[in-house]
Amino acid sequence: MTFQVLVTRRVYPEAITYLKGHAQVDYNPGDDTLAPAQLIERARGKQAIVAQLVDKFTSQTIAELDPGVRVISNVAVGYDNIDVAAATARGILATNTPGVLTDTTADFTFALLMAAARRIVEAHKFVESGKWNEWSIDMLAGQDLHHRTLGIVGMGRIGLAVAKRAQGFAMRVLYHDAVPLPPQLERELRAEPADKARLLRESDFVSLHVPLSLATRHLIGEPELRMMKPTAVIVNTSRGPVVDEAALARALRANWIAGAGLDVFEREPGVDPALLACPNAVLAPHIGSASVETRKKMSMLACENAVAALEGRRPPDLINPAAWQRVASAPKA
Ligand code: GLV
Repeated sequence: MTFQVLVTRRVYPEAITYLKGHAQVDYNPGDDTLAPAQLIERARGKQAIVAQLVDKFTSQTIAELDPGVRVISNVAVGYDNIDVAAATARGILATNTPGVLTDTTADFTFALLMAAARRIVEAHKFVESGKWNEWSIDMLAGQDLHHRTLGIVGMGRIGLAVAKRAQGFAMRVLYHDAVPLPPQLERELRAEPADKARLLRESDFVSLHVPLSLATRHLIGEPELRMMKPTAVIVNTSRGPVVDEAALARALRANWIAGAGLDVFEREPGVDPALLACPNAVLAPHIGSASVETRKKMSMLACENAVAALEGRRPPDLINPAAWQRVASAPKA
């Protein structure tokens, strides 16, 4: 059987070349997002869909997918765009691209942290505007990173990679996660577990690394922002809805906290005008994993996951093992 694969939008070309070695490919080479009806239509006759985080696989869309679809392979580590329970119920495998983007995203988290703490974007705009006439003692004075406390909410792969980078700045780490780190690693990283309230109260910087779920939606809202130090900076490279954006804009305007570095937003690609108006917010268009090397690796890994599923192998980055159980135990035709 020749497998049929839908690639919903542009990926790096080597991934398409690889895919073409294993299947017939229906490739949408643009950056336009397929509407649900288009997605359902283009998926007819396909056994695999290589998708991206802007493709929404709601339970309704999944219910209408061609019954032949065996796998939705996401080119992202986050998969809140897929209703995984609905996919599992239909025996559709779902996969993501963890690992290959960990260090790249951690690097970018630090870039945002430093940019917000040391006011680099404000400084750039100031120089660019031609307003720099004299030097002054407190001109664009920001917050030191070194020897301060970094609070990490969500100590998964990326949180851990951020904690490792913090050691280079002699920072103390507080972290909040359901699963504690091994004691040896805690010692190496000078990392201490803390409940959310303590982490928010004691940290000079707070960085968010949780997946988006019902439990983490608006994990940081007005009460949490009011707990933070007035000199604190918050960084979000996870998912926009983890932070209540309207509350964050109020916090930045009223100086409950000193700054924010945001790569993700509640209604991407829209950004709340109140946030755009905050000079102490450094904003990026969801590019945490966007190095050329990493985006190539993500493209390739997603296609490898899809091919594994098509060939009846368990995909290396399977999100829903329960769907695999169903597939593996189904009587062979
Ligand atoms: C990007 O946001 C990803 O989840 O990979």
